[in-house]
Amino acid sequence: MTDTAQENRPLIAGNWKMNGLKSALAEATAVRDALKPDPGTPEVMICPPATLLVPLAELAAGSPLAVGGQDCHAAASGAHTGDISAEILRDAGASAVIVGHSERRADHGEVDRIVRDKASAAHRAGLTAIVCIGETRGQREAGLTLGVVGRQLAASLPEGVTDANTVIAYEPVWAIGTGLTPSTEDVAEVHALIRKDLETRFGAAGRRIRILYGGSVKPSNARELLALPNVDGALVGGASLKAEDFLAIVRATA
Ligand code: PGA
Repeated sequence: MTDTAQENRPLIAGNWKMNGLKSALAEATAVRDALKPDPGTPEVMICPPATLLVPLAELAAGSPLAVGGQDCHAAASGAHTGDISAEILRDAGASAVIVGHSERRADHGEVDRIVRDKASAAHRAGLTAIVCIGETRGQREAGLTLGVVGRQLAASLPEGVTDANTVIAYEPVWAIGTGLTPSTEDVAEVHALIRKDLETRFGAAGRRIRILYGGSVKPSNARELLALPNVDGALVGGASLKAEDFLAIVRATA
């Protein structure tokens, strides 16, 4: 098993969730303006609500800021009112899409099989799939975390995963939006399990697949979380809405 904290280029992805009027584009502009086109710096992405994908992609064009969707349907097109496909996200300027976020799993009954099909759809459209997994508070308290995360990982990833087309986000459900985070030991333990499983299934690529931590990442805790072995970046919710906080997390990778 390899400690990849220093090997893989970090990714800091902001998940705006159902937040973001047109006025929020000013925050994205401020993020863009602070980034340098230097491969030695982390990759930075914002995943806005679908309505802001096109203007955000336009303002990010030619800059290091990447744009991602928050969900996609498994099909490429068709009669699925209210849904959005990976192909449409790509056409709007996205290079990635979050799939299997715990809010989608909880609010929309998305089980691992659905998440796997969505990740496949992302790959089909040429998008990077950011596949989310993580235990609930009850599962953590019952000592089931490693089993739950291992099963979700195995069942949520399709064949054809590479380090270029897939990122894993470990997000304990009880840490999302609560201000609570697991201990650094607990984060490191889960990330080590994910790394081992990825290496077992995908060989050398499994070492290079980035594993993000998500759940109440903020400027005050980012540095210690991002320094942990096998933590290759962060998926950031609330703290990604303000450029100042988000950029402080980006700088914490240094
Ligand atoms: P949070 O959300 O940073 O607000 O806890 C993280 C996420 O859900 O991706």
